[in-house]
Amino acid sequence: MRKPRRKVWIDFAFSIAIITLTIAAIFIVSSPGHKKEQKNNSTNATASVSIESIESTYPGIKIVTEMSNDKKAPYAIQYPQSTHNQFNEEVLSYINNERSHFLKRMDQLSKVKKDPTGELNISFKTMQHKSGHYSFVVVSGTNFSDGKTDMTIHSFHLHPSTGAMHTIADVLNRNPEHLAILSSHVKDALMADPSLQTKLANGYDKWVGPLWSNFREYALTDDAIIFYLNSQIVTDPTIGQPTVSVPLSSINSILMKAYQSEDAPPVKSEEQILKKPEKSSDQEENSEDNQKPEEQKTSNAEKTTSKRIALTFDDGPEPKVTPQILEILKRHNAKATFFMLGSRVEYYPDVAASVQQAGHELGNHTWNHPNLVKLQSARVMIEIQKTSNIIEQVTGQKATAFRPPYGAVNQRIRGLSDMPIVLWDVDTLDWQHHDPQKILEKVKQQAKDGSIILMHDIHQSTADGLDDVLTYLENEGYSFVTVSELHQ
Ligand code: NI
Repeated sequence: MRKPRRKVWIDFAFSIAIITLTIAAIFIVSSPGHKKEQKNNSTNATASVSIESIESTYPGIKIVTEMSNDKKAPYAIQYPQSTHNQFNEEVLSYINNERSHFLKRMDQLSKVKKDPTGELNISFKTMQHKSGHYSFVVVSGTNFSDGKTDMTIHSFHLHPSTGAMHTIADVLNRNPEHLAILSSHVKDALMADPSLQTKLANGYDKWVGPLWSNFREYALTDDAIIFYLNSQIVTDPTIGQPTVSVPLSSINSILMKAYQSEDAPPVKSEEQILKKPEKSSDQEENSEDNQKPEEQKTSNAEKTTSKRIALTFDDGPEPKVTPQILEILKRHNAKATFFMLGSRVEYYPDVAASVQQAGHELGNHTWNHPNLVKLQSARVMIEIQKTSNIIEQVTGQKATAFRPPYGAVNQRIRGLSDMPIVLWDVDTLDWQHHDPQKILEKVKQQAKDGSIILMHDIHQSTADGLDDVLTYLENEGYSFVTVSELHQ
């Protein structure tokens, strides 16, 4: 009985083995060809290119990020994408041009030098005019390993609902007289800028003369039109493309109707301008009253308190500590600013929403708390943008201030944030000592009128010490404002 059974088992095992071997053989035979194909498809086997697309906080605009980790010619490229094909094509053709120019250059360099490395970074900043007009200021920079950098600024324009892409000529109604007026305003602004006036190159005025091409790179905001001028205007190459800003109110009448402001003040006569400084000092009190009509009925004692302080809470929201802090602030009728991490807002949306409901200012503190100075611009943009998106999505309110983690910031990072960057002058070190009493000590030592106090709403000890801090500051005559109110 045993023998036949055993034979059947062996037969079965045999057939399984044959099938397995056949499959393996097919696999082995086919795979070399497959591998070859992969190699042929990419010029550099070590490089990988990733493409990522996220929503921006500007309706109808996505941010596309393309990154290559190629050892000799890495790049991180970021550009806006809209729902309008013509705009998208124009942007892409510029991007592709910059990229192929860079790759070609690196290729040529590799023939001359042993180990040339350079990195291309393209990022952009979005500005919006109240008419809906978007200006995208795209900065394309190549950093070479020998420390040299090349940088160019190029602007794109889009009206998101019509798809119109207004050039500077459109903005000025294609009128040469308007161009001449603009040219003289830009020249004035250039000469009035103390950081530029001493560095103007000989013959600089050629670059601000009445030619449309001199003013091609521009951005429109609610208050001003910003021009990115030719870098040859200045003698100092580290300045790059000098920027001047012309107030819209000063050129209202030469603008296309869509960009005109109906309530723009009439052009001031010289007499009025001369009187202005004298007037402003005694008008200050009045204007403050006008801004805060609800405070007019308060007692005299309160009315004379002019000392202001901005409390800021970083790294939250945190489900246990943040609600306690909100409660203490409410008891003291104090408004504060919360610099939130996007990843935590996503995790604790209800806590983030309760901060907004309590009437506090919402700040952006990046998604994951990296040191931005060490990140590529494209990564920085994603950290900021994703966080602004989740804050608005969860709370229905926009983040209105930005605080880089560790306060680590430079010109490049400043150029990437469309929110004001807010640091601090009083560091309570609450994250370090975890001692409620020490928070008060630090505040007593350092707080003054106009101070911004740094605390964190993720430590129980901070919540424990906050009531004493608020009581102390109240007794010292301070009122509590948000960071944006402080800077008004
Ligand atoms: Ni932080």
